[in-house]
Amino acid sequence: MPLDPMTVVPRRTAPPPVEADWPTGNKFLNGPFAPWTEESEAYDLQVDGEIPADLAGALFRVSSNPRFQPRNTDRYHWWEGDGMVCGIYLREGRAAYRTRWVETDSMRVEVEAGEAVYSGFVNGGTPGRLPEGAPRAKNVANINAGLFDDHLIVYFDGGLPHALDPETLRTLGTYDFHGGIDVLCTGHYKTDPDTGDMLFFAATGPVVTWYRADVKTAEIIDSHSFDIGVPVLMHDFAVSATYAVFFVTPAQFRLDLVARSRPGVVWDEDSLEHGVQIVLMNRRTHEVTWHELGGHWANTHFYNAYEQDGELVVDGHRIDRLGSPVDRLSTPLGSHEWFPPAMPYRWRVDLATGRATEEMISGVFGEFPKINDACTGRPHRYGYFVTTRGLADDTMSDGLARHDYILDRTTVVEGPDGLTSPSEPVFVARENARAEDDGYLLSLWWNRTTDRSELLIHDAADLRRIPLARVKLPSRVPFGFHGSWADHHTLDRAIAAHRGDG
Ligand SMILES: [Fe+2]
Repeated sequence: MPLDPMTVVPRRTAPPPVEADWPTGNKFLNGPFAPWTEESEAYDLQVDGEIPADLAGALFRVSSNPRFQPRNTDRYHWWEGDGMVCGIYLREGRAAYRTRWVETDSMRVEVEAGEAVYSGFVNGGTPGRLPEGAPRAKNVANINAGLFDDHLIVYFDGGLPHALDPETLRTLGTYDFHGGIDVLCTGHYKTDPDTGDMLFFAATGPVVTWYRADVKTAEIIDSHSFDIGVPVLMHDFAVSATYAVFFVTPAQFRLDLVARSRPGVVWDEDSLEHGVQIVLMNRRTHEVTWHELGGHWANTHFYNAYEQDGELVVDGHRIDRLGSPVDRLSTPLGSHEWFPPAMPYRWRVDLATGRATEEMISGVFGEFPKINDACTGRPHRYGYFVTTRGLADDTMSDGLARHDYILDRTTVVEGPDGLTSPSEPVFVARENARAEDDGYLLSLWWNRTTDRSELLIHDAADLRRIPLARVKLPSRVPFGFHGSWADHHTLDRAIAAHRGDG
């Protein structure tokens, strides 16, 4: 049976807008972060402008969206919200939309209890009474979402990913790459541009494990573990043709503190004898080398890494500090103090001498760096990110930026009609693209007036304030972290594989 051009059926009745009523001044429970407590779907959404005809597939994102009032609303942190997946399906210039909770085992515990049972891992807190057999820690399934192995896989750094039906967004269960991983992997994977294989890693205490999963069989075909000595909060990495690239920084995740109801994300400069170091793992030989940069700072996310002219080049964003100072865990920090604005940086490792250097790029504060993923491991010219210039009380991001590394020029646009709080921009190449930037940037923005979200589609090569299209969503998608695009070939195959599953 041929697939319908649109994969979301019309809803019988429109749901009322449902917002949580948990009075608190906590920024992460208000404004664009505020929870949206009902699953929703809609068909043939209102579009201002025109969705490009060759933009056919789905944008999958996962929002951070607490289902129940946190046990301590004042300590709740953005990183701890439950994952709600959002699929925006585009075809023939039309858009359809669906959101659904990622139903993890730990969420089922809270649904049965009718309230939050688990406490937070960022600022600490005392959990409720866990029923017998309940998972000891919560899998909030809120970091990233993307198609692999014909499933929509949703990731969380502290537990196994979950597999979802890519059409209905129904949660099927945890996903372990056919028994290839045991406990967890992080939410940041890269796709090998030559083979399509998935390249990713797990960080458990001081041990980092690199994985490669075959795109055809989804089996793990390469892995290697090594000990970096300190429990770095290792959330993202970069890959070049030869290396997997990791940074050892003072930003650390301390499970022992979480177990004592203390803040688990800490800033510990004393734990690093030589300051920040780059750790390279050779993807073929598994040889691990260390390269000293010095200083005390951390990475947020990476654009890419590549080798050129005898150097390894790594592009990412750098933050001056991240988390609660390990010697001041009892003093709560404001959100901008806990996570100050980050800045684009370029690091280089001389592959002959091993010497590492760094330089600031752009000068525009921002986060959520992205590239055209076809450039993974190869030289890229353009980077895209959201700006975080404003230090506003209610939002994190306030514009969309494109940096040209050759001209060393950053273009920034703000949202039309006051739209703000843009999400990570996802680059989608135009059909038969002829250049690296020949494509679209897809990002979700918050409309303060309607308190709903909009999908903005910008021309990546010609960034303008007025986008090519504004797709009006029927709900607000609480401000989250990451997502990805699935083209219609990949999406249709995955949907066909799931049809009939019930
Ligand atoms: Fe991330």
